[in-house]
Amino acid sequence: MTMAIIDGKSFALDLREKLAGAVSAVKSRHNVQPALAVVLVGEDPASQVYVRNKGVATEKAGMRSIEHKLPADTGEGAVVALVRELNADENVDGILVQLPLPDHISSERVINEIHPDKDVDGLTETNAGRLLLGKEGLVPCTPQGSVMLVKSIRDSLSGLHAVVVGRSILVGKPLAMLLLAENCTVTIAHSRTKDLAGVCREADILCAAVGRARMIKGDWIKSGATVIDVGINRIEEDGKMRLVGDVDFDEAAHRAGAITPVPGGVGPMTIACLLRNTVIAAARRRRLGPVDI
Ligand code: GUN
Repeated sequence: MTMAIIDGKSFALDLREKLAGAVSAVKSRHNVQPALAVVLVGEDPASQVYVRNKGVATEKAGMRSIEHKLPADTGEGAVVALVRELNADENVDGILVQLPLPDHISSERVINEIHPDKDVDGLTETNAGRLLLGKEGLVPCTPQGSVMLVKSIRDSLSGLHAVVVGRSILVGKPLAMLLLAENCTVTIAHSRTKDLAGVCREADILCAAVGRARMIKGDWIKSGATVIDVGINRIEEDGKMRLVGDVDFDEAAHRAGAITPVPGGVGPMTIACLLRNTVIAAARRRRLGPVDI
């Protein structure tokens, strides 16, 4: 059997080009430039890289990027005050507070201060509730990108058995809801699941979001299954640092029908979907008509 590698990098680039087109149309028709505000507290090196990449991608798509970098000892009250200021700012369409926040700040408190209609991460309780209830809202970026990749290679997901390994708020739970909305039969598996290998073997669509390098072995995969690997794990191998997924890619290659690689699979979709959410948030809040991307 031949296995397809799902090229998330090129899918994301294509999506970003389409979004740049939509932004350009909004600018010329409505004289509006959508804006994304990112809040970073502290100097975590990985977070600094993510924030820089988001800023560059936002501007490349023709949108305005606003960065607020606060020192690590900023109090929770000051972060909340900034979020409220951004909520009230007519020119700001999307707000993202980079996680993790320093230990003395409650992420839950700060995230839930974001106005749900500007919550481009889809992490507020309101947007989580909207997703659960099947109402219009803003959907977390990584799960959204994962489902787009599955749909890029399968016409219909209806009736397929999807197994999501991982139950995080950021990925596992929202991904399960999105797959349910596509009429999949969904199983959420996790570290306490009995016979995890056997459960995975039942999956037509297997999504791994556990954060453990190569945990999912080749013989856990049903022949021909679509495998979405959300994991990004940094490991040392043969004296070199490497990025690997939650799925043992070389083993999976003998079983899967299609698989996302790491890097170059789900990862690039996250920023593309963040830009998409910003365009959607701008269009809804400013009543510019539907965004069909
Ligand atoms: N840190 C790591 N991933 C994410 C994400 O998706 N959103 C935010 N806000 N912070 C993150």
